[in-house]
Amino acid sequence: DGRRLVKYDGFWLPEIAVRPIFSAQRYFKAKDSDIILTSIPKSGTTWLKALVFSIANRNVISIDQSPLLTSHPHTVVPFLEFNLYLFQENPHLQDLPSPRIFTTHMPFKILPDSIRESECKIIYICRNPLDQFVSHRHFLLENKIEKDAVPLDIDAAFDLFCQGIHPFGPFWDHILGYWNAGLKNPEKVLFLRYEDLKEDITPHVKKIAEFIGSPFSPEEEKQGVVDQISRLCSFENLRNLEVNKNGYILKVLKNSSFFRKGEVGDWINHLTPAMAERVKDLLVSKFDGSGLIFKI
Ligand code: A3P
Repeated sequence: DGRRLVKYDGFWLPEIAVRPIFSAQRYFKAKDSDIILTSIPKSGTTWLKALVFSIANRNVISIDQSPLLTSHPHTVVPFLEFNLYLFQENPHLQDLPSPRIFTTHMPFKILPDSIRESECKIIYICRNPLDQFVSHRHFLLENKIEKDAVPLDIDAAFDLFCQGIHPFGPFWDHILGYWNAGLKNPEKVLFLRYEDLKEDITPHVKKIAEFIGSPFSPEEEKQGVVDQISRLCSFENLRNLEVNKNGYILKVLKNSSFFRKGEVGDWINHLTPAMAERVKDLLVSKFDGSGLIFKI
């Protein structure tokens, strides 16, 4: 995509993420109570962070006091790899209150061993490849992530994407890693699709709560807590918060760039039917026999 990628264990990692990932693999010790949110960038990570943080902390912080109202979700639930990069300087991360919630873009097989081996929970979110590609492209154009990186033109970037050369790609292998892990151990990995959450958020808020072992009580349901959380974490609400209109993450990423359109199917405004066909064919061959489908 114009940034340098490094192939490691079958995946294309942004060069800037390699050291943090190795650091996480080496130092991170998962606790059974941890919740790890995983995704390919631009698949709905920010939304998932806001939801899981709000659900997990609903008995600790009232919704109108949520730190999400004054901080970007990436600050409230930071990235595992970027935290651990600073791990020696930040040993108190070890003592964060339970459940500790972290996010990472690492593929399943690259995760620190202790995440796979402990009882901690993994929640994965994915998104159809065309919208992910378009969202990613806008994000790159909006933020100067690397000083000297020049984004490729859209055709070249798309061609590389289809070859699997994309940050944290191949796209299909990233998704299949978590999909298969979820099939094997549904108690461990919850597999979500952005499009399903957009279609109806309510059952997903409940599903996440059940999955992390804190289902909504009939009392809470009666009080409308599920709706309150859904509304707090909605695209419109998060996007319109002052903190998300201004402000930067790590001094280079604009908070606002995490809330662009928040729609399903925006690819149609940016990609040709021939590009879509190419991806549809790829999806059929890559996901053949897996039981996984994307409606495009
Ligand atoms: P678009 O660029 O298509 O608008 P990530 O959080 O993984 O970086 O993904 C960003 C994408 O999720 C962006 O997609 C962004 O607009 C969308 N998004 C962010 N918050 C959302 C929310 N609360 N509900 C729905 N979509 C959201």
